[in-house]
Amino acid sequence: MKWQHYKFDVLSSTQSHLQALVNETPNLPEGYVVQAGKQTSGYGRHGRDWEEGEGNLYTSFLLRPDCSVSAIGEVSLLSGVALANTFRKHIKTPPIYLKWPNDVLIEYKKCSGILIDSGSIHDGLIPYLIIGVGVNVKAAPLKESSHLQHYLTDDINADTVLSDLRQEFSTLYEQWKREGFTPIRDKWLKNSFPVGTRVSVKIKDNKITGKFQTIDNTGALVITCDNSNKTKTITAGDVFINE
Ligand code: BTN
Repeated sequence: MKWQHYKFDVLSSTQSHLQALVNETPNLPEGYVVQAGKQTSGYGRHGRDWEEGEGNLYTSFLLRPDCSVSAIGEVSLLSGVALANTFRKHIKTPPIYLKWPNDVLIEYKKCSGILIDSGSIHDGLIPYLIIGVGVNVKAAPLKESSHLQHYLTDDINADTVLSDLRQEFSTLYEQWKREGFTPIRDKWLKNSFPVGTRVSVKIKDNKITGKFQTIDNTGALVITCDNSNKTKTITAGDVFINE
């Protein structure tokens, strides 16, 4: 994939910046990347704030996969695998796990977040996707989170992480376009926390507890519920690990 990289000292949000650019220039090419040294109004999934930390990575990039809505979930999982591979390149221990759909956890602590926005759907097709990635490289803004430098003696910075992520992402994205979701699903499962891990899933005001089983061939989460012992397939929700 050909990348066009634009770096800013400060933006309100790389995600809203890139969204505004796509609106102004509808043929903005795939691979357009925006990076900011700082964000003043970064946001995460479900409209939550994304906390700032000095030296962390804030980036958004544009994809034009030219396919149906199902691609959104698939690319979301693919992005998590690309980020887990990026972290593994530098961190050999402790273990790095993916938590559905695409949080990368080191020692069960969140070190990154991925946000996917899509253009409005026409005839079941998505015109573009904007992938927003925040990585705690140098600082963990929340008590329960961690950062990459904490696990390393050599210096690491946001630019190195982004360059590795671009490479990992390109490889997986090309494979996905050639071979579909199956190999990406296999890779996601190899990176996932173990089958049988106890989880709770918050879906709006409901909470389901159970054991992680797998992800299905659409990328949905499959758990065995505690109270019924039945399998449940979940397409949207927040997953918490019950250690
Ligand atoms: C999450 O809720 O876990 C996703 C967080 C995504 C944060 C990134 S930082 C770069 C990009 N710009 C934003 O405003 N959000 C995303």
